[in-house]
Order: sequence, then structure tokens, then C-alpha cells
Amino acid sequence: MSDEIPITRPWLGAAETQGVAEALEDRWVGQGPRVAQFERRLAARVGASQAVALSSGTTALHLALVATGLGPGDEVIVPALSFIATANAVRMVGGRVVFADVDPATLNLDPADAARRITPRTRGIIVVHQLGLPADLTRLGDLADKHHLTLIEDAACALGSSWRNTPIGRPHGALACFSFHPRKIITTGEGGAITTSDDSVANQLRRLRNHGGETTPDSTGQGRSQGPIHYAQLGYNYRMSDLHAAVGLAQLDRLDEILKRRRRIARRYDARLRNHPSLITPPVIPDATHNYQSYHVTLTEDAPATTADIVTRLAAESISAQCGLTAIHREPAYADEPTPTLPHTERLNQRGLFLPIYPELTDDEVTRVCDALIAALEGDHGT
Ligand SMILES: Cc1ncc(COP(=O)(O)O)c(C=O)c1O
Repeated sequence: MSDEIPITRPWLGAAETQGVAEALEDRWVGQGPRVAQFERRLAARVGASQAVALSSGTTALHLALVATGLGPGDEVIVPALSFIATANAVRMVGGRVVFADVDPATLNLDPADAARRITPRTRGIIVVHQLGLPADLTRLGDLADKHHLTLIEDAACALGSSWRNTPIGRPHGALACFSFHPRKIITTGEGGAITTSDDSVANQLRRLRNHGGETTPDSTGQGRSQGPIHYAQLGYNYRMSDLHAAVGLAQLDRLDEILKRRRRIARRYDARLRNHPSLITPPVIPDATHNYQSYHVTLTEDAPATTADIVTRLAAESISAQCGLTAIHREPAYADEPTPTLPHTERLNQRGLFLPIYPELTDDEVTRVCDALIAALEGDHGT
């Protein structure tokens, strides 16, 4: 049997191990100086004045909504084709999720469809840079401005991408939310961050991640002194630990190489798959620089196999693939909502396919994936 090719694999090495060992050695195992350093370096990297490190991309989305004052009864437009956390965050603040459709070429929120769903109760839009490809921030920014809506960027997958030469994370909207889950561009194990250029929002986020308290408690167990803490508002424990930040700092050192490798792998997939009659490969958008957090193809209507067939056939060759993005409105958790008409979301959910991509994927492995995919598409499906 051939070696396994997973769908993703974080690129970790001696630097991450050493960083964690040093954090353990000096007993900073809660939030401490490494988190502060990680925040400074992340903000500098994306060109924001502030980054606030958090426990996940989901908690980043939640706090982004809280910090921008979105709450009960507010309608927030989100793309229906996304990871479920994008919509869940709206519910976490008591808001009403309003699903909009995506542009079938980019898989990103369609500004025209979003515009059609605006009502007098609409207060915000969460724009997702899906799979790392930036959404049309120019049109969505204009739409948000015109209707006085808060624009929050779900940039979970988009570190290293840019829109019109501006890095994602230097917020075009109010705030940009990142995830450092192992499937993302860099990982901290679990983790997330919000970047902003508004210092008062950053301070608010720092309180919110820490129970609403004014200062960050010393969670090292080393008994470092601190003044009294006052809890001015409801808050949460959404802190990142220094163990996680130690991994993140080493990952930031690798970021350029990670992006280079991902783009190179994507070019190899493109070259091999672009002209296949049953496949649509990722688009090239002149205004957007893609980080290829995922490599996703769409099966054409007349493709001779379903995505589930292909996943099964690739699994038999020890290759992990995955069926398309979630159509959130079809999930049981959203069954109590009226079912909107979202034709592109429905189709892409059925016809989208993720192929393996990660920095250590070799050229030979890309060839193996492409051979197996083409065989699955061209094989005998007559049974
Ligand atoms: C688009 C999107 N939003 C939000 C999240 C949530 O991030 P996390 O898993 O770090 O909570 C993810 C990833 O998992 C995602 O892909």
C-alpha cells in the first residue's frame, strides 16, 4: 500500500519544539510575554496597528461581534457556503443570521446577492475570504458604507493573502478575524486573533478575552505581583497561552516559505487539472493574491462521478480528499430558519472537492493525487 497522503499536515519542527520547551522551562504556560510578542509580530506582518490573540477563530468572530456592538435582533448577512462558525458567531450574540449566496467563480459572498438581503434591521456583514481567496472587499466595503453596516472579515483562512496589494488583516472593514487551527496557514494548535487599527477596540477586545477585567492576571503560578482587577463588563476566558504563542512565533518565521510552497503546489495542480473537462480549478482574480489555504476544485454538471464517489476512490489509494464546503442553511442546527434560495451554495456544496495541500506535499505526491483523481473521473462508473 502507498504512503498515506492526508488532506492537510501542519509543518512543524525543531523551532516549535524548542519554543514550547522554553515556555515550559520559564513557567510561562498561561498568557504571557510570548503572546504579546506574537501579537506584535502578527500586527506588523499584516499592517494593522494591533493584534489581539485569542483561543480560536470562533472566539475571534464572537468577540468581533461583541466589540462592534452587534447583538440581539440585529440581522447579520453571512455567506451560506462557509464553515459553520461564521454563522454560529451571529447566534452567539443573539443576532439573526441572514444567509446570502456566493459568487460561483470565487466561492465568496456575492455583493449583489448580499445587497438584495438588506432590510431595515440589517446591522452587519461577515465577509469570509473563503479558502484563502480574498472576497471583493471594494464592493462589499462600499455596500457596508452605503447602508452603515459593520463589516467584519472572517479571515480564518486568509493569512498571507491580499486584496489590491493590501494584506488581509489590515482591516478593510472594522476587524479581521484569523484562525490558527492546524488546517490554517500557520497554526498554534488551537488559536485565533483579531487585527484592527483602532486602539480602543483592541483594548476592549483585551478586556473581553479576560472576563471583562482591566488587566491580564498572572496565570503562570509564579506569583508575580499585580494590582487589583476590576471587571467592568461581561467577559470571557478566550485567552491564548504562551505555549500556543511559542508555536505561533516559530510558525511566523516559516510563513513566507509556507506561502511559497503552497502557491507552487497549487500551480502544479492547476497545470495538470486546468484543462480536464470535468473539473473547474481555482480562479485567478487580478485584484486578489491567493494563499491556497485549500486547493478546491468544482466538478462540472456532466462529470461522470460524484464527489462522494471520488473521495471513496481516492481513499482506496490512501489519499484523503473531502467533499465541498458546508451549505450552512441545510444543517440541522439551522433547520428552524426559513429556507432561503441559494442556488450556487447548494450546487457548490454538492460539487466541490478538496484535494490535499500542505507545505511538505511533494511533487510526486501531487502527481499521485492527480493520477488518482483523473482515474476516478475517467474510470468505469457503470455498476
Ligand atoms: C471560514 C472559517 N471561519 C471560522 C473558522 C473557525 O476557526 P477555529 O476552528 O479556529 O475556531 C474556520 C475554521 O475552522 C473557518 O474556516
